[in-house]
Order: sequence, then structure tokens, then C-alpha cells
Amino acid sequence: MKDQTVAVVAGRHPHAHYGVVNTPVYRASTIVFKTFAEFEAAADDPAEFRFAYGRLGTPTSASLEEAVAQLEGAAHCRLAPSGLAAITTALMAFLSAGDHLLLTAGAYQPTIRFCESILKKFGIETTLYDPLVGADIAALMRPNTRVVYVESPSSGLFEVQDIPALARVAHERGAIVMMDNTWASPLFFKPFEHGVDVSIQAATKYIVGHSDAMLGTITCREDLWHTLKRAHRELGMMAGPDDIYLAIRGIRTLAVRLAVHQENGLALARFIKTRPEVERVLHPALEDDPGYALWKRDFLGASGLFAFKFKPGVTKEALAAMLDGLKFFGMGYSWGGFESLAAPFRVSRYRPETPQNEDAWCIRIHAGLEDPQELIADLDAGFDRLRTAS
Ligand SMILES: Cc1ncc(COP(=O)(O)O)c(C=O)c1O
Repeated sequence: MKDQTVAVVAGRHPHAHYGVVNTPVYRASTIVFKTFAEFEAAADDPAEFRFAYGRLGTPTSASLEEAVAQLEGAAHCRLAPSGLAAITTALMAFLSAGDHLLLTAGAYQPTIRFCESILKKFGIETTLYDPLVGADIAALMRPNTRVVYVESPSSGLFEVQDIPALARVAHERGAIVMMDNTWASPLFFKPFEHGVDVSIQAATKYIVGHSDAMLGTITCREDLWHTLKRAHRELGMMAGPDDIYLAIRGIRTLAVRLAVHQENGLALARFIKTRPEVERVLHPALEDDPGYALWKRDFLGASGLFAFKFKPGVTKEALAAMLDGLKFFGMGYSWGGFESLAAPFRVSRYRPETPQNEDAWCIRIHAGLEDPQELIADLDAGFDRLRTAS
């Protein structure tokens, strides 16, 4: 089956639910058993006995797990109440006191903070590495490096990592590769075909797709499943049934939405490149982007999230004149919904070591599903306001 079909059919079992097309919202804490034998089987291994207790899973959660696993190319999946919770669960599952973690400096900021605070407290050391290091990561590997964590393209600056090269080194040295695959979604990057061992989605973004629910997913290689499943259970991870339902509903239209996010994102990126106020557009699917060759080799598409960097000299007042007057771009921290967003930041937000004279203002754009010409006209007017106010 092609992905577009998988997104529609995976995890749906209408005839197990009176013919109802969408798996209903099962609300459950207590789940009762028909017989003593069934009750005992569940007590022996509650995670193996599919539906034993609300926290361990319901037909609603199983439906989404099945769909995400199939799309990412894994046999199994587990859910968490947010993308960040999925990340922390995966890290805690595979790291122990005394271990070393190599974490891309391009990771989502709260991921970095978790590693440098909570993991540190439990005796796990983190080294941040340059996302573009490639096979030279070998020099940073230690005998106790257990996990190499990747996120590609990187948060904020959209640098593309050479994941197969990183994975080759990690595997040679007995470490596993963990990836935040949220930008590409399960459709545009197939993590397990490129050497990733554990893959995470902030389903809050494209899978939910409507900016109205928080959720995370974790998939992994078959031989790691037992470890992941156990940690997930022991940490008490479970997502709320309504949020899971919204993610199931979202995943059915993921392929058609992403195609438009991609198209609109590229149209906006190409337009932004023509504006004289702009130094560079950070979008790996633009032919002159430094990440283009790797993106083209490994990815199946580009989502609607990218950024651009202003030339020096843009003031806060000018930026406000541009942003405050936008009609179709909301200013918000998340992304992946149907609507367009524009979020200002400075390079130092993602790379604190950036010298002050290189710390340009940037805007992160999420291209939504609106008409691209209307989005371009809105941005064009915004650039004109910025110029007038400068
Ligand atoms: C790349 C990436 N990963 C993970 C997350 C975390 O997801 P959540 O907000 O659902 O915890 C985000 C949120 O912005 C993100 O951008």
C-alpha cells in the first residue's frame, strides 16, 4: 500500500465497532474480565494482554498506534501526552546512570533542557554536537555512549543531518540512534530505512494537524520494543482519549494536507528570497540551500516549516510593524496546524554562542493551507511596512 492509502486505512477496524468508520473514543480506567483465567493472564503480563486497564491502552489508543507504526515503517508504537513526553520517555527507556548521550545542538530546546537538567541529575552525561558533524562524530563517541540523538532538519535553523553516516558510526560503537522526526512527519522521512532505531513524533504538529490537541508517539526497531514498552508502562505514560481521537482523525488527511503545506511553503520561500531585506532563506528544499543534497537524497518531501534571516540593521520596531499588521499569519510557538504562522527569533535562541554582530533577526514561517497568493501578498505588505519603519 502507498502511504496515502495507509494513512486512510491503518488502524481502522469498523466491524469491531458496529460498522462505525472511526474507532470510537473509549473512556476507560477499569476494564472487567469475563473469567478468572482471563483475569490471571492479564496479571501475569498486563502489557501483553491488550486491554487490561485504561492506562495500558484501549482500542482508541491501539488504533492510532497501529496507524503511526505502519506509516513510519515499524511494528509497534506507544503514545505519550505530548511530543516532549515522548522524547523524555524514549531517552529514559534507553539510558542509565553512567551512560553518555550525544545530542545534536539543533534539537528542540526543551529536549536539550531535559537532558541537561533531569538526565544529568540521574547521572547521565550529555555532549551537544554540531548537527553537521557527519561521520566525524566518531571523535566524540566514548565507550559509554549509548544514544546518538538526531533531529533533522534542526529546530530553528533547518540544517540537514547526514543520518546514515551518523548511524553507521553509532552502530559500529554499539550505540543506538534516536530521532525527532516531527518536521518531516512519517510521510516525508522513513527513519528505519536510514539507520534510525527509535523515532519520535510530536503528533501535536502534523498528525493532529488542527492546532487543538497535544500528543507524542514513539516507534522503534523490533529488538528494542520490549525495553521501550516496559519503560513506557513503568513511567505511567498515557494520553487522553479525546486527544488520541483527534490525532486519529488528523492522520486520515495527513497526506493531502502535507502536499499543500509543502507546495505553499516552497511558494513562500521562493517569494521571500526575492525581498531585498532578506539575507538567506533557511529551507532545505531550495536548490541553493546547504542541506539540499542530503535532503534530496534522504527525504521524500518538505513540510511547511522553514525560516528566513534578515540582513543586519532590522530594528524591533520595524519587526513589530511587519508582524503586527499580518492578516493571515498568527504569532505562536507551535506549528503543523492548517493555519499559517510567523514567529520571530534571533539566531542566538538556537545557538547561544552566536557573536552579537551575527545575531540576526529571523522569522520562522509555518505555511498553512490558505491560498498561497494571498499569503504572499500579506507578507509582501509586511516587508513594505518593515522597510518604511526602518
Ligand atoms: C521539533 C519538535 N519536537 C518536539 C516538540 C514538542 O512537542 P510538544 O509541544 O507536543 O511537547 C516540538 C514542539 O514545538 C517541536 O517543534
